[in-house]
Amino acid sequence: MPEADPGGGSGTARLIDGKAAAARIRAEVARQAAALAARHGLVPGLAVVLVGEDPASQVYVRNKVRQTGETGMRSFETRLPATVSQARLLDEVARLNADPAVHGILVQLPLPKHVEEAAITDAIAPAKDVDGFSIVNTGLLAARGAGMIPCTPLGCLLLLKETRPALAGLNALVVGRSNIVGKPMLQLLLREHCTVTVAHSRTRNLADECRRADILVAAIGKPRMIRGDWIRPGATVIDVGINRVRVDTPEGPREKLVGDVDFDAAVRVAGAITPVPGGVGPMTIACLLRNTITAACAQHGVDPGGLSG
Ligand code: GUN
Repeated sequence: MPEADPGGGSGTARLIDGKAAAARIRAEVARQAAALAARHGLVPGLAVVLVGEDPASQVYVRNKVRQTGETGMRSFETRLPATVSQARLLDEVARLNADPAVHGILVQLPLPKHVEEAAITDAIAPAKDVDGFSIVNTGLLAARGAGMIPCTPLGCLLLLKETRPALAGLNALVVGRSNIVGKPMLQLLLREHCTVTVAHSRTRNLADECRRADILVAAIGKPRMIRGDWIRPGATVIDVGINRVRVDTPEGPREKLVGDVDFDAAVRVAGAITPVPGGVGPMTIACLLRNTITAACAQHGVDPGGLSG
């Protein structure tokens, strides 16, 4: 892996290896799950609810269920048709809230249009809300820097802290204002004492905002929108985008995954950057597993920090 000083902008950015970081988190989760079973007779359980047949959601849910099992936790899967009523979905959430074997509940988004997403996420018991999307956990993060932290922004933060242990006082730019990534990322960077700007589709001069950023988190869902010459030399770039694009190769057209940042250009300017794939992507499920341990421990009065020794 090429190494560069994250403050230096030396010509080739250091690649931030999310795959390796996620593997370390999963290994820690597996150790904690084993200790919970051995010392407390407790097997953490994660319930995943999938509504409809969206292919991307099916892949995510399959991976979540598989990795839950691989780390020694129990998974519960509910599949409901796209035509399911909001009332029936609320009944399912209520059933999972009441089930003592379930410590974490995740309803895969997006939901069909006739279902009000906020009504569902807010119905999940805050203690079991491992996505951190409910209004209670959103409020806890905003007002107190506490509560269950949404998985993708948590993954970004963990990668950032590994790359730049001293975040206080840095200029951070979050591009994107979604409830899933942009807004919680703003709160997390504030909690780390960064000076944070949030840019979005109505921002007037995105290039200039980017050029001021020591830390740039891109979460807009537009392939390669952030150009290399917008990056501040030496900046740390966290690319949340996972976009499928068609590229022409000598063998003909094929599909490729790219981020929201023009990686090939940015890697020459940034101090450190996450690749796509292999950057933020693997961190999301790893953080979901970590949140499930946190939730199980909180529900049983166990200190998760005491499980690792
Ligand atoms: N859809 C896309 N990302 C997520 C996520 O992190 N959690 C859930 N529940 N749905 C998603």
